[in-house]
Amino acid sequence: MPTTAAPAHVHDAARTALATAPAHRRQTFALRLDRWWDDLLEPLTRLHGAAVAGALATDLVRLAATAYVARDDELHLLDERRLLEPDWLQSPRMLGYAAYADRFGGTLHGVGEHVPYLEELGVTYLHLMPLLQTREGDNDGGYAVADYTRIRPDLGSMDDLRELARTLRGRGISLVLDLVLNHVAREHGWAVAARAGDATYRDYFHVFDGRGGAEGPDAYERTLPEVFPAFAPGNFTWDDDLHGWVWTTFNSWQWDVNWANPAVLREYAGIVLDLANAGVEVLRLDAIAFMWKRIGTSCQNQPEVHDITQVLRTLTRIACPATAFKAEAIVAPRELLAYLGTGGHQGKVSDLAYHNSLMVQVWSMLATGDVRLTAHALRGLPPAPPRSTWITYVRCHDDIGWAIDDADAAALGLDGRSHRRFLSDWYAGSFPGSPARGLVFQENPATGDRRISGTAAQLCGLASAGGDRAAVEAAVARIVLAHSVIAGFGGIPVLWSGDELAQLDDPDWASEPGHAGDNRWTHRPRLDWSRAAGRHDPSTPQGRVFEAVAHLGRVRAGLPHLHASVTNEVLEVHDPGVLAILRRHPVGTMVALHNVRGESARWPGSRLTDLGLYDPFDALTGNRPQWVDGEVVVPPWGSLWLVDAAAVTWP
Ligand code: GLC
Ligand code: GLC
Repeated sequence: MPTTAAPAHVHDAARTALATAPAHRRQTFALRLDRWWDDLLEPLTRLHGAAVAGALATDLVRLAATAYVARDDELHLLDERRLLEPDWLQSPRMLGYAAYADRFGGTLHGVGEHVPYLEELGVTYLHLMPLLQTREGDNDGGYAVADYTRIRPDLGSMDDLRELARTLRGRGISLVLDLVLNHVAREHGWAVAARAGDATYRDYFHVFDGRGGAEGPDAYERTLPEVFPAFAPGNFTWDDDLHGWVWTTFNSWQWDVNWANPAVLREYAGIVLDLANAGVEVLRLDAIAFMWKRIGTSCQNQPEVHDITQVLRTLTRIACPATAFKAEAIVAPRELLAYLGTGGHQGKVSDLAYHNSLMVQVWSMLATGDVRLTAHALRGLPPAPPRSTWITYVRCHDDIGWAIDDADAAALGLDGRSHRRFLSDWYAGSFPGSPARGLVFQENPATGDRRISGTAAQLCGLASAGGDRAAVEAAVARIVLAHSVIAGFGGIPVLWSGDELAQLDDPDWASEPGHAGDNRWTHRPRLDWSRAAGRHDPSTPQGRVFEAVAHLGRVRAGLPHLHASVTNEVLEVHDPGVLAILRRHPVGTMVALHNVRGESARWPGSRLTDLGLYDPFDALTGNRPQWVDGEVVVPPWGSLWLVDAAAVTWP
């Protein structure tokens, strides 16, 4: 680690801010500053040039020192604890849950009251959907922030947030919140000032007087995709107050901020440090791919994004090292790894990123009963950097976009576009024989894209099963299988609230104010606590799914093989219905077998022996698997997590 100590004048600037801190704190800060100085200065220099970078870095260090002094003792202690266990996010004990605070617990205080429920599931990571002050009316589920320093009043106050973070921390649960950093609401103070004619704040946004010019909206549009083609076509919005076109990648009232302006970077640095000091342990960097604009490109995945992330990350390493970053980059696999830190950014940007490709493949396997495309696609993904961790998930608050790569499809003799079309038809329930009942989201006639909304249960066939027992069984089995794939993959499996109870879509989603145009609300139901009351009743779907999901978490926690630093090797396909994943950990080998069909399958025992598994146990049942003629039997829509019995702490 070749590091240059920070120059004396930077230490001096920090010392002034640290004046009231005890000596040991001042020493710690100085050590961290020297350790990470290069990581701060280098990306700033690339972004803004040497002349600006020096003063900006000093300014940011001063900000970090101020936040460090304000950080409370419990959080300083947490910093030390995380530094002693740098792989805490990679531990198989990690299990996530994502929910809207209001839809799960009413208020922040209410969320705190439901902690025992989360503990029953084994949750150690709680992502609460955006809860900062939003604009009035439609606000994209909170992703149109009007004030980063306030909590939505119906949910509580900043003090309630601190209190909740403390409660969660006391129970071993890390609080995860969104940092919406690509855009703010048109009603945010910066936008209000810009609309009032303040030139300083106009520069916080990308504003154009007209549509023409070599670098005007029309020129950009030539290479820009559309995120919401149905309800927010185009990427620019005319604003009368501004008397100009403002960049709006998402909705017309979500204004993209101008990250090329150092003042914007400074503002967000302050926001990051404040949230960390409120007790937020993981920041989800929303829509991070879109932050930097470059003419002639899709304006996604630009290299500057990683420099900006490194700057913010380095500041947290200095002031509040317990804080981790999670990249929300729903981008092609070849672009994705950079968000976890490749090249010079290794270990310096986000710790976590969504495994969107795995999520899409889970649904593809369940629809086709065939794992070959999945095996091919997963094998083509380069291994993630060793200290990074995937977020694995079955569903989240967003729609499913069919990110099936054309080349992957072609390698299997499929046509990418037709396969994507098939998947939307299947999950919309319009393909003959499909039990799924999802909704089509944002059909785009230009590209043929049709994304899908729906809860896991809705997409697995529980809604269409009615009173048909076999159909209910099959739906339950598919829900559990999907969760077994994500739980047995390494990384942090994150449950989407309601899926653990096999909740169906909300039939009344459109009747809520501001939601009618956006059918993602169908799979964002309020947690049904009366349904939750039946979670221990094995005769109900919710009872079966809840117990199975909690069981997956318990088994996972005892399997060192599932530490995220272990890479997955997707084994050659033996039976097109069975996905086989090998994980080699120093304690022994694990082979997960997932049968994506409704008939039982077999897998050759000799291959297990070749892989070093002589007397495999199924960690999920705690028993030896069933054997027939030298082959292990994988039950219909079932999983085996095969390991050597000696390597396991049984729950
Ligand atoms: C993210 C969120 C999504 C939101 C978008 C704009 O991708 O997941 O729900 O619409 O950002 O903020
Ligand atoms: C796209 C974007 C993602 C956004 C989602 C909203 O997938 O990449 O950022 O949240 O659309 O539906």
